[in-house]
Formats: sequence, C-alpha cells, structure tokens
Amino acid sequence: MTFQEQLKADIALIEPALERSLSGESGAGYDRIFEAAKYSALAGGKRLRPVIVLAFCRLCGGDAGNALPFACALEMIHTYSLIHDDLPCMDNDDLRRGRPTSHKVFGEAMAVLAGDGLLTRAFETAAESRLPAETVLRCVRLLARAAGMNGMIGGQVLDMESEHQKIPLDKLRLLQSLKTGCLIRAACELGCTAAGSEDEHTLAKARAYGEALGLAFQIQDDILDIEGDTAMLGKSTGKDEKSEKSTFPSLLGLEECRALVQSLTKDAADAVSTLGDSAFLTELAYSLVGRAN
Ligand code: IPE
Ligand code: IPE
Ligand code: MG
Ligand code: MG
Ligand code: MG
Repeated sequence: MTFQEQLKADIALIEPALERSLSGESGAGYDRIFEAAKYSALAGGKRLRPVIVLAFCRLCGGDAGNALPFACALEMIHTYSLIHDDLPCMDNDDLRRGRPTSHKVFGEAMAVLAGDGLLTRAFETAAESRLPAETVLRCVRLLARAAGMNGMIGGQVLDMESEHQKIPLDKLRLLQSLKTGCLIRAACELGCTAAGSEDEHTLAKARAYGEALGLAFQIQDDILDIEGDTAMLGKSTGKDEKSEKSTFPSLLGLEECRALVQSLTKDAADAVSTLGDSAFLTELAYSLVGRAN
C-alpha cells in the first residue's frame, strides 16, 4: 500500500468510529449537545493525531483496530481543545475547519458544554476498549496527562499569559511543547501502548518522533497564520499578530522558521528510522512540511 492509500484507509476507519462514539442521543430534550459535539468533531479535520495512533500501533506489531478507541478519544480531546481555544474569552475566532465556530452557531454556553462533553466522552470511549484492563489504564493515564494541567492546558495557560510580551526562546519551546506537543506525543505513545509494547527504547523513540513532529507542526501552524490562505486553512489568518501572540515567527522570523520545520521533520524521521517499518511515519512527517492546511 502506498502512503496515500494507507492514510485514506486509516481515515476511513477513524471517521465512522468517531461518529459511532458520538452517538447516544436520548430524545429527552438535550440532544442539541450531541448536535454541537458532532458539528465540530465531524467537520473534517486532518485527523493527524488518530492517524499517528494507528501508525504506531501497527509499527509495534499491533492490530490498528485495537487502537481505534484511543485514536477517537484523542481526536475528541483535540476537538474540545479547539472549541474552547476559539471562544471569545480565548482566541476569539469565527472560523474553524471551514465552518463558523461552535459558539457562533450554538452560543457560548453550548460551545463550552460541547467541549466538556467531548472531553468526557473521550474517556468513556477509551474505557470501553476491550484490551486488557492494564493496557486500557495505561492509555487512559496517557490521555489524561497529555490533556491536563501539566500538558495541553498548561500550554494554553502559557499561550494566554504570553500575549503582548516577548518571551525567551526556551519559554516559547515549553509553551509549544505543552500546547501542541503533548497531544501529538501522546498519539505516538498511545499507539505503542495499545499494541502492548512496553519496550522503553521504542517508547523513547516514539516520544522523540512526537516531540519533533509536534514542534514542526506548531511552527508551520504559526507560519500559516501569517501567510496561509483562509479558504485552504478553514480558519482565519493574521490572528497571532493581531493578538500579539508569542510565536516562533514573531521571535525568529519566517526564514528561520521554515528551516526549523525542515530540520525538525528530519529529526522526527530519524527518531523512528530504526524501528521496523517506519516508512509511513516518515512520509507522514514529510507530508506536513510546507502544508497549506
Ligand atoms: C490545529 O490543529 C491546532 C494546533 C494544535 C496547531 P490541526 O491543524 O491538527 O487541526 P485539524 O484537526 O486539522 O482541524
Ligand atoms: C491551539 O493553538 C492549540 C490548542 C487548541 C491546544 P492555536 O491557537 O495556534 O491553534 P489555531 O491556530 O487556533 O488552530
Ligand atoms: Mg490558541
Ligand atoms: Mg487559536
Ligand atoms: Mg495557530
């Protein structure tokens, strides 16, 4: 199978599983919350994180189907983070995944609840995995840590508090590593763990891939905020400068950022080069260099 065929096959597994995980309407009068959760979750994101979960599971000799609940859980957490990130009290954005943001359609209160609902459903979905209880527990813990206060949420706090100021490069690295890196690193670890791998060497390499790829991914996100096309991106541009966000381009300039994306992508590829059949993960990393959305 070529890279593109595998990617298509993985997304064809993820989309219906995500949809199934988000059904459960009761007909009892509060079903608009399901509508709001699905509106954002089934709006055609790139599905990078769940794809990485399945890829690492396969790399470690596991059946990708076993990793699906964790892949969906991670995508739900990612989607919740986007809904809340877009709220007027945070980045105040009107467009996400090519559609009006959740709060624009459903109102702020429902958008907050849709995020809460997705976060909670993520753990329900992970806990429903049929894998051995110890494996499930490991995965649940990975998810919680990555999404939590020492993870993505901590990164969002740094992001918010670093607006309107120039922060040193090491603080910016920490901010990005938490804000975006944690969920991407978790994707790598979840795949290995779902495959039953407890090999520390493999896990360390998987983490290194996630760390480098996550940083490259966020730098490219920051580049796209400056020179991307709204129609292609499905979200507004020019927001980082307007909000005086601390970003890599604001500190290093665009040229250096483009070079960094290249070198970090190579770091990611190098990290997995000795781990069996890593061709898919290598191609995935390079496919994100210079991405337009
Ligand atoms: C956007 O993530 C937010 C960041 C962490 C940079 P993605 O670019 O993966 O968004 P979707 O899932 O494709 O919409
Ligand atoms: C968002 O970073 C990261 C999380 C949601 C955790 P950004 O604020 O840069 O993402 P976009 O540009 O709105 O997608
Ligand atoms: Mg933000
Ligand atoms: Mg934002
Ligand atoms: Mg951004």
